[in-house]
Amino acid sequence: MAWQVPLSDIDLGDAEVAAVEKVLRSRWLSMGPVTQEFEAAFAAAVGAKHAFAVSNGTTALHLAYAALDLGPGDEVIVPALTFVATANAIRYTGATPVFADVTSLDDLTLSPADIAAKITPRTRAIAVMHYGGYLCDMAAIRVLAQQHELAIVEDACHAPGATLGSGHAGVLGAVGCFSFFANKNIAIGEGGMVVTNFDHLAERIRLLRSHGMTTLTWDRHRGHAATYDVVATGFNYRLDEIHSALGLAQLGKLIENNRRRGAIVARYRAELAGVSGLAVPFGVPAADSQPAYHLFPIILEPEIDRAAFMAHLRDRGIQSSIHYPPIHRFSAFRGELADVRLPVTEAAGQREVTLPLFPTLTDGQIEAVVTAVRSALAAAGRA
Ligand SMILES: Cc1ncc(COP(=O)(O)O)c(C=O)c1O
Repeated sequence: MAWQVPLSDIDLGDAEVAAVEKVLRSRWLSMGPVTQEFEAAFAAAVGAKHAFAVSNGTTALHLAYAALDLGPGDEVIVPALTFVATANAIRYTGATPVFADVTSLDDLTLSPADIAAKITPRTRAIAVMHYGGYLCDMAAIRVLAQQHELAIVEDACHAPGATLGSGHAGVLGAVGCFSFFANKNIAIGEGGMVVTNFDHLAERIRLLRSHGMTTLTWDRHRGHAATYDVVATGFNYRLDEIHSALGLAQLGKLIENNRRRGAIVARYRAELAGVSGLAVPFGVPAADSQPAYHLFPIILEPEIDRAAFMAHLRDRGIQSSIHYPPIHRFSAFRGELADVRLPVTEAAGQREVTLPLFPTLTDGQIEAVVTAVRSALAAAGRA
């Protein structure tokens, strides 16, 4: 179906085409100098000492958890209101995800109070997710982590460019993970990045990303190494030069595109203020923080039929989505978690709708979305 207003769209142009063509003409496709350049530029952009380009956000998360040496018997506190990969990647290590609630229907990020309630002697880490590009309450979460000697992993897949004071999302804990999937703020198809300021974690991530090998094909190609040892059971989670070239071009647009996203969110908020039947979360972003505005979520009042609301939008060519069906309700997780209750997460899972948001959304498209939202609410008996 051709949407009049899709949920997301990418800002691709001549810069990306030229960057990819240059790689193709160089005749070196696997991880090499362009990937190194992308890593250095990304590290500089988020103020990280180390950055490793990887094949996607899920492998970024797996490397983060693996670098922390998590394994069977360990617990990681994680939101259930996130994409399933945040929790699946904990399970890859043999550790157990322990779900904590989010703060409120206005702040859909992990609740420090519920994290505190879920800490046990087996807890090793807290995995936060900066929902929609809005930062978690990192000040409170860092205090908890320090008190209980827990590592913080940031799932910053929604939040490249978001800041808290002078610090960037991704370097507010031990390890930060980013996704460059096709609908993200940096979109390259499939790709991701792991960042850390800790040398010992960087060394583990470097090894585990590429089979546990001590040298890379690129090093051997340049004659910098003749052979290699394998010192860990690693993975192939590398990014290639074509995707890195796309990443560099997209990174160059990040600040301006996040600014445009913010302006669109401000316009939506003004248009929807006072509309009966919905609330717009994150009215007051965390103090001293700058969001990355990845998603534009709204929360419908409980008596409004969400499926009918979304169908009304769909019939007018407006694509919408749900972020997220809570993880603890999925079949693959439900069994052992039958009695887990996360009231705010469950309410959000039933009442949240994500409206279109991308940097090239036009004023006319915003108007079409708002008009469709108003008529969907009128159809539901709201003025
Ligand atoms: C919050 C979150 N975590 C993890 C991921 C996984 O990233 P990827 O799709 O690049 O594996 C995504 C994106 O899809 C995401 O939105």
